[in-house]
Amino acid sequence: MTLKFLGISGSLRRHSCNTGLLRAAQQQLPAEVSLEIANLSNVPLYNADIAEKPEAVTQVFAQLEAADALVLACPEYNYSIAPALKNILDWASREPNNALLADKPVAILGAGGGMGTSRAQYHLRQVCVFLNLHPLNKPEVFANAFAGGFDAEGNLIDAKLIEMVAEQMRALAVWTERLKK
Ligand SMILES: Cc1cc2nc3c(=O)[nH]c(=O)nc-3n(C[C@H](O)[C@H](O)[C@H](O)COP(=O)(O)O)c2cc1C
Repeated sequence: MTLKFLGISGSLRRHSCNTGLLRAAQQQLPAEVSLEIANLSNVPLYNADIAEKPEAVTQVFAQLEAADALVLACPEYNYSIAPALKNILDWASREPNNALLADKPVAILGAGGGMGTSRAQYHLRQVCVFLNLHPLNKPEVFANAFAGGFDAEGNLIDAKLIEMVAEQMRALAVWTERLKK
């Protein structure tokens, strides 16, 4: 088994806790699974008038194409999905036949206030329906970014949360293999 996961964080902040969750996931992968983290910092807002795909978009598209599964770190902005995450999904969804996204397994996790981005994560699950992405049901990872679980650089330092992320990565590997059959 060799599986490629692609991590996408909806926060562009240098010390983002959501990106920190993805780095934690990289440290907790099962054997023979790899995880790259996409760079969204130069991805412009989707605009159908942009005739030639920007380089930053092309790069993420190549990573999406190569990925067996996605790990979406979903910040919550005003009770919903952060725009950077929705934006790259919008870009990808315009490819013919939704080929970059359709049928891909997904794990969703997030760090935010007391509700751990659960409201945004449930909105993201709704988006997954239309995109025909297949989110893992459990385990869910709802991390509090303000309760000492992350250091000042956004690294995940809480042992319980690290184990939850590890468990989710193991479940995503099993889910990905199952969907391949
Ligand atoms: C525009 C904006 C709206 C926010 N709205 C929410 C919210 O609805 N729920 C929540 O839990 N946190 C909210 N927050 C706080 C974020 O959870 C917090 O900034 C978090 O650290 C963002 O993730 P990051 O560390 O990965 O950047 C909001 C932050 C911003 C900038």
